Amino acid sequence: MSSFNRTVIEEFRANAGQVGGPFEGSELILLTTTGARSAKPHTVPLGFAREGGGGDGGGDGGGELFVVASAAGADRHPAWYHNLLARPLVEVETGTDAYEAVAVPAQGARRDELFARIVRAEPGYGEYQARTRRVIPVVALQRTHEVPVREGGIAGKLLDVHGWLRAQLALVRELAREEPQGAGAASLGLQLRQHCLAFCHSLEFHHRSEDAGLFPYLEQRHPHMREFFLRVGAEHRAIARLQEELVGALDAPGVGFSERVERMSRELEAHLDGEEAQLLPVLRALEA
Ligand SMILES: [Fe+2]
Ligand SMILES: [Fe+2]
Repeated sequence: MSSFNRTVIEEFRANAGQVGGPFEGSELILLTTTGARSAKPHTVPLGFAREGGGGDGGGDGGGELFVVASAAGADRHPAWYHNLLARPLVEVETGTDAYEAVAVPAQGARRDELFARIVRAEPGYGEYQARTRRVIPVVALQRTHEVPVREGGIAGKLLDVHGWLRAQLALVRELAREEPQGAGAASLGLQLRQHCLAFCHSLEFHHRSEDAGLFPYLEQRHPHMREFFLRVGAEHRAIARLQEELVGALDAPGVGFSERVERMSRELEAHLDGEEAQLLPVLRALEA
């Protein structure tokens, strides 16, 4: 990270999003992506636009924010843009709020319309576009679902993660059903691609942490549950295969992507239900 960026980030965090110097008077966010290759967090300060016109000062509102991958008109996309294509789950800080979002680059006419609107508010972006043959991307930051906390402890954590996965998968199902299928579609819309990847990465992470952490820990205390852990471990592997097929189909979808998503949903729902039925009582007893 450049020392300039580091200074801006520190100032941003220390002053609830207010930054002086060249950014005096302009509103910024901090966007944290995960390195496509390094897997390390990468934070950048960025200007942004809101849906419904810039400069409305309407608070955080919960609507989408848009950022522009201008790189000051350079011929290469900024690193954070490559990162969010590989790992769509990002962290957004507004100075008064911090949340997780799925980053979705706008496409076609939608991108052009957003970019034109942003240029009307901030003409500098038009100058950046004039410097490069690259089409400068406009990226929507779509806040992910917040799952209401139902209880504390590890049981509550498990329910939170499962709740998030269920909600994200429901969104992916909806997007997959709307997607135009068939011969014309060389690749899926970025909206579906990004949300599907975000879901898959979170699911992978959750299962890995169960396999390596929670399950061995519980099995030590409850050796009689060994059969159960073997079964759910096998379910993880079966779901991982479906997930691999799903990710493989993202760039060459053809017909049947939606069916793949439906199949994944059925398997995963059954898995999550089974886990909750067996594990919640055990986890609650641990903390009682
Ligand atoms: Fe699991
Ligand atoms: Fe789980």
